[in-house]
Parts: sequence; C-alpha cells; structure tokens
Amino acid sequence: MADKKTKAQTTPTIDELVSLTKRRGFIYQGSELYGGLAGTWDYGPYGVALKNNIKQLWWQTFVDSRDDMYGIDAAILMNAKVWQASGHTGAGFADPLVEDKKTRKRYRVDHLLEEHDVDPVGMTLEEMSTKVKELGLKSPEGNDLSDARQFNLMFETRAGVVEDSANQVYLRPETAQGMFVNFKNVLDSIHPRLPFGLAQTGKAFRNEITPKDFIFRTREFEQMEIEYFVTEGDWEAQFAAWEQRMRDWMELIGLPKDSIHDLDVPETDRAHYSKKTIDFEFEFPFGVKELYGLAYRTDFDLKNHAKHSGVDVSYLDPTTNERFIPHVIEPTFGVDRTVLAVLTSAYWQDQENDRTVLKLKPALAPVKVAVSPLLRNKPELVKVAQEVYADLKKRFGAVMYDDNGNIGKRYRRQDEIGTPLCIVIDFDTLEDKSVTIRHRDTLKQERVAIDGLGDTVQAQLDSF
Ligand code: GAP
Repeated sequence: MADKKTKAQTTPTIDELVSLTKRRGFIYQGSELYGGLAGTWDYGPYGVALKNNIKQLWWQTFVDSRDDMYGIDAAILMNAKVWQASGHTGAGFADPLVEDKKTRKRYRVDHLLEEHDVDPVGMTLEEMSTKVKELGLKSPEGNDLSDARQFNLMFETRAGVVEDSANQVYLRPETAQGMFVNFKNVLDSIHPRLPFGLAQTGKAFRNEITPKDFIFRTREFEQMEIEYFVTEGDWEAQFAAWEQRMRDWMELIGLPKDSIHDLDVPETDRAHYSKKTIDFEFEFPFGVKELYGLAYRTDFDLKNHAKHSGVDVSYLDPTTNERFIPHVIEPTFGVDRTVLAVLTSAYWQDQENDRTVLKLKPALAPVKVAVSPLLRNKPELVKVAQEVYADLKKRFGAVMYDDNGNIGKRYRRQDEIGTPLCIVIDFDTLEDKSVTIRHRDTLKQERVAIDGLGDTVQAQLDSF
C-alpha cells in the first residue's frame, strides 16, 4: 500500500532531524537545562517508544524466534580484570588524538586528516603526525597541534568509599564481555550445544574525544550484541550466515538497500581481537559512516579470560568427547545509530501535500493508530471516540487519543510522529456505525465499519 519513496526525495539534513525530533518529543539534548553535556542525548516519550520497538523487534528476530540463542543481562560494572583480559585497558582500545598546544583541547587526528581529504586508514601514529606537519594543520582555534598519541576510551570510576587503585572499575565500553564472562555459567546451567549464541542489549560508555553528529557518536549509548560460538572450522560459513541475517534485519526495519555499503575492514584498522570484520556503513545525512559491524573474534576473548581468571572455560563436545575453546562470530548493532538510520530513511518532505512525514514501519512506529472525535466539544462524538479508542488500545497498546487542535493540525502532528493510521469519528458515525481511516503515506481515506475495526486495523497495518 505505501508508495515507495526514493532516497533523493527525502534525505534530511541533520538539523532537520534534530529539529523534528525535539519538536515532536523524540530526542532532547542531555542535561539541556544546564547548557547540555557533550556526547549525551535524552530520549523523550516517542523516542523511547521507537527505541523500545527497535530493541523488541531485534530480540524477537534474533533470540525469541530462534532455538540456538540465549539472552543475558550482565552488570554494567565489571571486575577491572575483565578489561585487562579483553585487552581494553591497553592500546587496543584507544583512539589517536592530537592536542591543541594552547587550549589543551583534544581532537581525533584521523578525523582531522579525513576533513583534509587524507585517508587515515592503515596509517601509524608517526605517519599521521608527519602528515599533520606536512599539511600544516592547526586546531579549529588556529593553534599548533601536538604529535598524535593514543587515548584510552574507557570511563573510570570507583566502587566503594576508599580511593585507591584496588577499587577502580570501568563503565563497560561494550556489552560483549558480559557474554564472554558468562559463557561458562550458561554452559553449566543450560547445556547448549554448538553452534549457539548469547545476546544482550544494554548501555555502553566511551569517552569519545569528539562526540558529534547528533546521536551517531555519543559517550553513552546502547548496543544490541550477539556472541555466536562455533567450532573453528565452521567460522566462515557462520560468518556468511550472519552477514545475510544482518542484511535481512536492515531490510526489516526499512533501510533502503542502496543506502547500505559494506566495508571489509583492513587488518590495520580492525579491533585488536578481530581476524575479519565487515562494517555495514549507512548513508547518514553527514556522510557514509559505520552503522553495524560483523567480526570474527576467533577464540581471543574466551582464551584470555581462561588465562587471566585461571578458570577452564572450554566446551566439551558430547559426540566427539573433544574439549576445546569455541571461536566466536560477533554481529553488533548500535541502538542509537539504528534510531538515526531509521529516522533518516523514514523522513519524507511531501512537497505536494506540504507536510513532513516519518514513514516508519508500523512495527517501529511509536503510535500505531490515533483516534479522534471530529469535534472535541460534541459529547456524542467524544463518547464513541473514547469507546473506539479503549477498544483498540486493548489490542494494539500504542494507540493515542488525539483531540488537540483542529483535524488538520492533528494529521500534521501524527504524520511527523509517523503514525500509520488515523481514525476519525464524525457525525455520520452516529448514523452508519462506521469511521474514517486515513493512511499516512497515501492520504487515502476510507469508511470502514466499527464492527470488526480491530481486524481492519491489523490488516491495514500489515499492508504497509
Ligand atoms: N563488541 C564490539 C563493539 O563494541 P564497535 O564497532 O566498537 O564494536 C559496535 O561498536 C557498535 O556500537 C557500532 O557499530 C555502533 O553502532 C555502536 N557505537 C560504537 N561507538 C558508538 C558511539 N560512540 N556512539 C554511538 N554508537 C556507537
């Protein structure tokens, strides 16, 4: 039913997205009352609904509908030794920075080089420093820059009251390690057989040197991650299978295929644990940038946790009686980048009808149906509208009663929230027991009977 939009029709600027999402209660600047806090954003009522819908659909797709996946929810604060074993406290989890020699402000040197048309992929720190000098690059304030060096991205904090290094802990920079350190617990309690996976969604924290581009690069964000445990000989086949599943997911949430670009990440740019990584890049309003990643983490994590903890985390194959440390395929999805990609794809400036629309898939839309009386001061209309509303809410949950402003204003608001269907109760309803359903994308209006309305709504939502 929904007409197919083309990318050229719609790609919004980042300012348009920031403005719409603020105006309509999706996303606000973090700590805005106090002038904000760099790298943080707060989700409002419709933003959290969109985010929850994404997470639920992801969980349903990758956990509930499969027999080989198990969910976990590990603590954000973990023993500091976890991060020594995983390599995150070392140079492996650091970004290259240069410092403004006067203001002491720090900048990502790879980003500065990119802005000057130099591809930093594969360059060493020394090479980047040389290039900065060669090009005579200055800081944005016009001052000299230091040589490039590595900066660890983990946020440190302390557990308990004594301030010494013994109780230093880190806010997790990825959800992945919660799954590796629980691998043995799951083996011992659930007894799954290879191949199988653990899945987790949750917050991660990185002290990004230059948070930027709205919710694209923030210091606090959410991830949806899978660690899929396989035998070493099976990794290539499983990698290919997960690559396809990730593509199917992107289609499911409405990202146009031609907005996605694959990057086979060269060795010099891969994370310290990875033997192969594909980045799925998306055409964001500010350029083509990483949306998701798929990595072959080998047995790096489990082997290191076994070594550092002294605990045997091997798997015993019940058919061959062989004991070994499984290898891992990791599909990783940023929640906030998903929100941004979904909003970018859904945004539609409908010039013909002078309106802005979020063409969200119904499964993701914060509101599925809005119900309105034509006039809010006519009790006979309000009574029926309330009944229809209560009935649909029981079945669909995310149904909104909207009697604010005139009908034109309500439609504009619902279009910007991305509500697929609007139902209006008018004077004819009182006579013929039918209502008008308006379709967000086609603007088609149909009269349908109140009797069986739930089924009609379901059928129409399914047809988007
Ligand atoms: N466990 C693997 C891992 O964390 P990553 O590529 O560093 O890999 C995974 O991060 C995903 O998390 C990215 O593809 C991206 O979607 C999201 N992400 C990473 N850093 C982010 C940031 N600073 N702000 C928002 N999302 C971020």
